[in-house]
Amino acid sequence: MAIAPIPDSPLPHVTLVLAMSLDGKIADVQRGAARFSSAADLAHLEAQVAAADGVLFGAGTLRAYGTTLSVRQPDLLAERRQRGQADQPWQIVWSPSGHLDPSWRYFRQPVPRGLLTTAAGATDWNPEQFQRIWTIPEAKTQPWDWPWILAQFRAAGMGRLALLGGGGLVAELLRCHCIHEIFITVCPLLLGGATAPTPVEGAGFLTAVAPRLQLLSSQTVGGEVFLHYGVLPPPCQGR
Ligand SMILES: NC(=O)c1ccc[n+]([C@@H]2O[C@H](COP(=O)([O-])OP(=O)(O)OC[C@H]3O[C@@H](n4cnc5c(N)ncnc54)[C@H](OP(=O)(O)O)[C@@H]3O)[C@@H](O)[C@H]2O)c1
Repeated sequence: MAIAPIPDSPLPHVTLVLAMSLDGKIADVQRGAARFSSAADLAHLEAQVAAADGVLFGAGTLRAYGTTLSVRQPDLLAERRQRGQADQPWQIVWSPSGHLDPSWRYFRQPVPRGLLTTAAGATDWNPEQFQRIWTIPEAKTQPWDWPWILAQFRAAGMGRLALLGGGGLVAELLRCHCIHEIFITVCPLLLGGATAPTPVEGAGFLTAVAPRLQLLSSQTVGGEVFLHYGVLPPPCQGR
């Protein structure tokens, strides 16, 4: 897969990758793992993970899956080696509380694991469980200062970040204008349920200031529609 060069920026280029039911849900009301997309969508997801230096997901997502998606396809691994990347990108979970279960399969997967957390959330974890812990000072968590945090990832060599949800984390990064591209696969099922998770949780955006998108491509494979959007920069302030 050809990868466009990353812009010269102090922040990583962030690409959100999600699968969604036709009625806009990313899981059912039980908020478990979303296993409704096709093999084609999983291959697409793996390709996006393989393009990244780091993968970021919320603790709600890790609680739902207990695992993360590593790069396994030999051609994708070969491309990473050709680009001079490590075989596996960082797999980083955002968990302010640090309340994660060390028995999850994630902690046995052969991937470099990172934890993005608070001082309280960082206790009780050892270097075998997380090879890197980013402990964010309290002043930068009220609210979370994502540009500052992402700059730490960039300084650690992550030029490209794949963001795998869930909606809580997506809302946080959108609030700070930190998402550049969105791949969303619309899947042919209806999940319903007022409390089922959606791509963007949080407080929501009023229409006037909602992030605006530009459709870059669309492709239909079987019953699924693969959409690729660019996130437009916010309008200049004070004009
Ligand atoms: N279809 C798809 O492509 C897809 C992709 C990803 C996820 N999903 C689904 O999405 C669901 C999970 O999404 P989600 O939105 O619930 O979770 P999430 O975005 O994965 O994680 C929520 C995050 O919010 C943090 N948090 C919660 N309340 C907070 C507060 N008051 N202040 C600061 N941080 C706070 C949690 O940290 P703590 O650890 O401290 O609680 C956690 O890191 C699952 O059902 C999953 O299957 C679907």
